[in-house]
Amino acid sequence: MPLSPQISAAMEGASWIRRMFERGQELRQKHGADKVYDFSLGNPVLDPPEEFFQALGDLARERGTGHHRYMPNAGFPDVREAVAAWVKKAGVFAARARDVVMSVGAGGALNATLKAILAPGDEVLMLAPFFVEYPFYIANHGGVSVTVPAVPGFGIPLEGIEKAVGPRTAAVLVNTPNNPCGRVYTERECRALGELLRAASQGLGRAVYLLSDEPYRDLAFGDRPVPSPASYYENSFFVYSWSKALSIPGDRIGVVAIHPGVDEPRLADAITFTTRTLGFVNAPATMQRALLPLLGKSVGRAEYRAKAEAVGRGLREAGIEFVTPEAGFYVFPKSPLPDETKFIERLVDEMVLVVPGRGFGCPGHFRLSFAVSDETIAGGMAAIGRAMKKLRP
Ligand SMILES: Cc1ncc(COP(=O)(O)O)c(C=O)c1O
Repeated sequence: MPLSPQISAAMEGASWIRRMFERGQELRQKHGADKVYDFSLGNPVLDPPEEFFQALGDLARERGTGHHRYMPNAGFPDVREAVAAWVKKAGVFAARARDVVMSVGAGGALNATLKAILAPGDEVLMLAPFFVEYPFYIANHGGVSVTVPAVPGFGIPLEGIEKAVGPRTAAVLVNTPNNPCGRVYTERECRALGELLRAASQGLGRAVYLLSDEPYRDLAFGDRPVPSPASYYENSFFVYSWSKALSIPGDRIGVVAIHPGVDEPRLADAITFTTRTLGFVNAPATMQRALLPLLGKSVGRAEYRAKAEAVGRGLREAGIEFVTPEAGFYVFPKSPLPDETKFIERLVDEMVLVVPGRGFGCPGHFRLSFAVSDETIAGGMAAIGRAMKKLRP
């Protein structure tokens, strides 16, 4: 039985990440895991907060609640109520419980939302650098992904968006704080994006939707709240996941909240329907209930900030340019060689693993995840320094 040609091609295109993973396995087997500095994966290293384990323990002792049965596909009504209040308190927008659909992580929320809004051939704009999975999520639902090139400093490429919006544009997909570069969009940029999309929608005579994917918003290094682009535009969706903030990506819990000012009243019903028919059915029951005492909590901001600083020092000493990350656990430096895959080969010679920027829409860069131990950071930065010395003796 042949593979789907689309999936076969997509797997081939994404082969760099797989190749890095395989190289890492090879190196670990040959030299021992402690000799390999693997910065390729964005997998939280910290334990979830203590309250998470307590909540699970409490839930495991409950009987007779019916909580493990099928439920409304959008999620438990009391959880949707609490999450709507949390979205409002976070300053995103005044979400209503009926516009909140619980999801299987941010990945589930994005897929259910794209499925609900896209017609075949509809375009979705992605702002470089973008999360590597976006093109696949968009293609899953017959959409066409359009890359808006990055601007220096990795802000919102407003001019590029203006140029790229056209008759087939269904949505713009943004991610702040950003994976892979750690940039947090400013309030001013978010407001300008809202104005731009409002004008574009008026010009087209229909709404261009904004999907704002924000799973790192509770891992910002500064004390100021992270602005949400969804606050500044009524036809928007706020997508969030507790994967990163609570260090629980394996447990799969997220949400999409629809702005109360959106032009189409059936969107929540549509996303509830796609959640069901994509086969998610509903977000995991135990995770929904475990969230109730955890809303507004996060783990690791200080630790990730310290790691970001250590990595920043190492990169600067090595003479590598980068935009300073403001949140999350990634940095997206400029490759010292124009072809980043060639530089990445030099890093592999020093047993350092990172991911090429081309998968994020930015060739000539590479992504380094600092969701790793402090020992890996110390050893890895020294190894990157050695690679640079060999490059520029
Ligand atoms: C920007 C971004 N969006 C979405 C996701 C998917 O998150 P989840 O594990 O909640 O599906 C990730 C995960 O790395 C991400 O970095």
